[in-house]
Amino acid sequence: MKFLITGGAGFIGSHLAGRLIEEGHTVVALDDLSTGSLTNVNAWRGRPHFKFVHGSVLDADMVRKHVLDSNHVIHLAAAVGVRRILRDPLHSIQTNIQGTDHVLGACAEFGRPLLLASTSEVYGKNEGKLCEESDSIFGSSSMMRWSYATAKKLDEFLALAYAAERGVAVTITRFFNIVGPRQSARYGMVLPNFVRAALAGEPIRVFGDGTQTRNFTYIGDCLDALMRLLATPAAHGKIFNIGGDEEVSIHALAERVKQAARSSSPIVKVPYVEAYPEGGFEDMRRRVPCNCRMEALTGWRSHGSVDEIIAQTIEHERNHLDSHAVHPGPAYPEKEAVPTMSR
Ligand SMILES: NC(=O)c1ccc[n+]([C@@H]2O[C@H](COP(=O)([O-])OP(=O)(O)OC[C@H]3O[C@@H](n4cnc5c(N)ncnc54)[C@H](O)[C@@H]3O)[C@@H](O)[C@H]2O)c1
Repeated sequence: MKFLITGGAGFIGSHLAGRLIEEGHTVVALDDLSTGSLTNVNAWRGRPHFKFVHGSVLDADMVRKHVLDSNHVIHLAAAVGVRRILRDPLHSIQTNIQGTDHVLGACAEFGRPLLLASTSEVYGKNEGKLCEESDSIFGSSSMMRWSYATAKKLDEFLALAYAAERGVAVTITRFFNIVGPRQSARYGMVLPNFVRAALAGEPIRVFGDGTQTRNFTYIGDCLDALMRLLATPAAHGKIFNIGGDEEVSIHALAERVKQAARSSSPIVKVPYVEAYPEGGFEDMRRRVPCNCRMEALTGWRSHGSVDEIIAQTIEHERNHLDSHAVHPGPAYPEKEAVPTMSR
């Protein structure tokens, strides 16, 4: 099979590309490198089963060409990260809505199945256990933070409408804080930021009072979920949560990172207004997934505990302290395996 992965040089996209290539498939990664990196895909560049295309999903002709040339499409390209959304809201909204419309339109035109990445952010401020049919509770439009969740929710509506009216075989995934090697710290992702600060002996900055909680999902578990969904036609037309089981407060996460890294870094609380001086930020207190739908259809369960995830991230950061450039230089690291969690 030939897979087109938009956002294929990003964190999740590059790991998925590696998994698909390992299983004998061919991958074309279309990416504008805005948050992704060539270092993520260097291991396969120049090989017959991989092609990197530098381009944007905002370019409808380019999207059409590569969708036509593939058997299956995985749409991961998006403007991500709270910091980026707040600093560049217009381009972020356009990328996340128009780009998805281009991909869906081309999949409808050429009859290609599509896996579409959405996010747990679509639940907004809903603090209950979050099933796929749970309500979205978004804040005011003046809080630009909600533009990302709203755009992703609109992507879901678009996808379901394309499925209903134009027959697109689309599967939608809502990711809950996927973490692991290669995740960039530059756009506000919490775990790589904590780990880097701890290893550098710098303050670990907890935004807000730190009592807000999240469930983290190890990239290896995420890949397992995606591979199962790609092999399950009964998933078409449906939405699936993909999230870890362990709920942890952000302050507890900082303490666990500090301890695991044997760091002397102080943990400091940073008010949201200081963390996001551009304004437009409001946090959600809690985001806990129900994975029942995923488990019932595919048998998938997450396995990575928070402590194991922290340990893997620390190991990765220790090994790559000098190679965090988004636009890398000519030296390309060897392919790295995704560490598996103990089961
Ligand atoms: N990592 C998570 O915890 C998480 C959680 C929820 C949802 N998601 C979704 O998963 C997908 C992948 O996220 P990720 O964590 O790998 O982030 P990432 O930033 O590493 O990947 C996104 C990729 O898309 C590329 N991109 C951005 N705009 C583009 C454009 N116009 N054209 C082509 N490529 C473009 C970036 O360069 C990057 O490589 C995104 O759709 C994101 O919304 C991720």
